[in-house]
Amino acid sequence: MSARKIFVTTALPYANGKFHIGHIMEYIQADTWVRAQRMAGSQVNFVGADDAHGAPIMIAAEKAGKTPQQFVADIAAGRKEYLDGFHIAFDNWHSTDAPENHALAQQIYLDLKANGLIETRTIEQFFDPEKNMFLPDRFIKGECPRCHAKDQYGDNCEVCGAVYAPTELINPYSALSGARPELKTSEHFFFKLSDPRCVQFLKEWTQDGFHVQPEVAAKIREWFGTRTNPDGSTSEGLGDWDISRDAPYFGIEIPDAPGKYFYVWLDAPIGYLASLKNLLDKRGEDYDAYMADPALEQYHFIGKDIITFHTLFWPATLKFSGRKTPTKICVHGFMTVNNGEKMSKSRGTGLDPLKYLALGMNPEWLRYYLGAKLNGRNEDIDFNPEDFMARVNADLIGKYVNIASRAAGFIAKRFGGRLGSVGSDGQALLAELHAQQAAIVQAYEDRDSARAARDTMLLCDRVNSYVDANKPWELARQEGQDARLHDVCTTCIEAFRLLTIYLKPMLPATAAQVEGFLQIAPLSFADAQSLLGTGHAIGQYQHLMQRVTVEQLDALFALPEPEKVLPGGEEIAPTITIADFARIDLRIARIVECQAVEGSTKLLRLTLDAGEGRLRNVFSGISSMYQPEQLQGKLTVLVANLAPRKMKFGVSEGMVLAASHADEKSHPGIYVLEPFPGAEPGMRIH
Ligand code: 2FM
Ligand code: ZN
Repeated sequence: MSARKIFVTTALPYANGKFHIGHIMEYIQADTWVRAQRMAGSQVNFVGADDAHGAPIMIAAEKAGKTPQQFVADIAAGRKEYLDGFHIAFDNWHSTDAPENHALAQQIYLDLKANGLIETRTIEQFFDPEKNMFLPDRFIKGECPRCHAKDQYGDNCEVCGAVYAPTELINPYSALSGARPELKTSEHFFFKLSDPRCVQFLKEWTQDGFHVQPEVAAKIREWFGTRTNPDGSTSEGLGDWDISRDAPYFGIEIPDAPGKYFYVWLDAPIGYLASLKNLLDKRGEDYDAYMADPALEQYHFIGKDIITFHTLFWPATLKFSGRKTPTKICVHGFMTVNNGEKMSKSRGTGLDPLKYLALGMNPEWLRYYLGAKLNGRNEDIDFNPEDFMARVNADLIGKYVNIASRAAGFIAKRFGGRLGSVGSDGQALLAELHAQQAAIVQAYEDRDSARAARDTMLLCDRVNSYVDANKPWELARQEGQDARLHDVCTTCIEAFRLLTIYLKPMLPATAAQVEGFLQIAPLSFADAQSLLGTGHAIGQYQHLMQRVTVEQLDALFALPEPEKVLPGGEEIAPTITIADFARIDLRIARIVECQAVEGSTKLLRLTLDAGEGRLRNVFSGISSMYQPEQLQGKLTVLVANLAPRKMKFGVSEGMVLAASHADEKSHPGIYVLEPFPGAEPGMRIH
């Protein structure tokens, strides 16, 4: 049989935020599957990309004072740290704003149009007259029409749970400008999912027991039934899909439709193809030829929140533009932390992936823990710190790593680092391990890494019972037991190699270390049918994995340090010497006269006597706090040797000292300094 050719993706993350643990879980699941496929001999291309388009990203970029392109590029630059950190080995990482995606999306649209599946319709939508743009529902707020809670979103009320159309909000306002939105008509493009061809195709495709998990197929069945429209009316079957948005929009222009862009969810999954094409182009391979191979399989790993897009819109888009449809959509549930408590940073229950790495926690602990929980079904899983520690320490250290550490020393010290022959009981044990290969490979194939982990741990138990029964540490002390000791330790090392094969998709870095220690080429599943053999020389055993500690978990979930309180809102400046300070000549000065400055809302003009036998003119930005007559006659502090500065209203000969908070917005106010009684004009401040 020739090797399977598989194209694998994970959902493309919006490029307006860092990865959270949910992204990392999905990538670990997919990466584990891909590694298992490769170990089984499949040829896999595994790609990801940033989902760059849409109104929220455009608005976030504007807020950050960046172009959307720059904004997205800055987010993309942070991806590698997470991916490398957790050994997630995408073959390519691209962007939906890349030229490949623009070209593919436009072509796919033209193909759908040629197939009679695109229709235009005029719709009414809220428009922000100040921002000059149509508002997505989540940028419209107002009073809930049912419970009258204020400041609710345009599509549902977070207080009473009501679902409504934005037009039903009482006193609606734009969350962008605060302006009252106006209803305006606009021509939109629709993908006619209600076309009988689409409905028939999707019913078959989703319900044939192959492309999606059974629990997902059941959910989709509901969508073919009766729907509730935003206005409360009901419709039968699938609704048409609005695939256009009006300028200004960060997205891909619709051909022959000036000012119209594809809705982000039209071009996002096309980004899978764009990333693949970019990868193949870089390698000098032909994308069209690759996609034309009927044997090519296409797998998408996604979360349960985006099922509609991937099981209805995406297969229909591909099918009716004359393209290959996905082989499987692999849906996973959400990850919760600490028994389903909603993750919240302030409560410290979230699991920050970068913090995990920064604490020096082994990424393979997490890969194994998640792998041991994910069973291929659309179910939520919980990260529980005690459970995590118990699972990793008991399974990986106690059961797996222990086997090597118990045997390797004797092989090195007593047998020159070479393996011996395996006795009949050892052979029987190894035969049990060989025999599990097919089942474990199948478990990975089914994305049931939980089963692969469980089966492998049962095999570890078998090997540990063998060790306990034979007690190599006792054999080592007995006369005439050298041959038996060699046999038992050889059996352990052979078994350890087989167990490593079975765990390798979850533990790629540990497996690479083991391959180094055993002095062998990278392991694949087929290697589970052979042995190292008598005389094979192994290397020096180095401890493979540390235990998880309570301290690490405490630190991982510790509440974030309270924000450092900065005196006056800013850090104390770097230390200076007394000589540095002496360079500033501070003098007591009397405010002889004080006047408002015509044409300035900030400045007061001060006439100062610093005991020099002349008067100085100084401008000071304190008019928000003082009336001129309040200051007249008072003493204050003057920076007397400051270079004179020419200002719009005249020359300022020095500066008076005044205090203010760094954050003027939250702590407004500026306060002029006044010396204790007794000070006289001209006195120097030391
Ligand atoms: O839900 C999300 O985070 C989307 N950015 C996923 C897109 S998946 C694919 F279609 F690009
Ligand atoms: Zn309400």
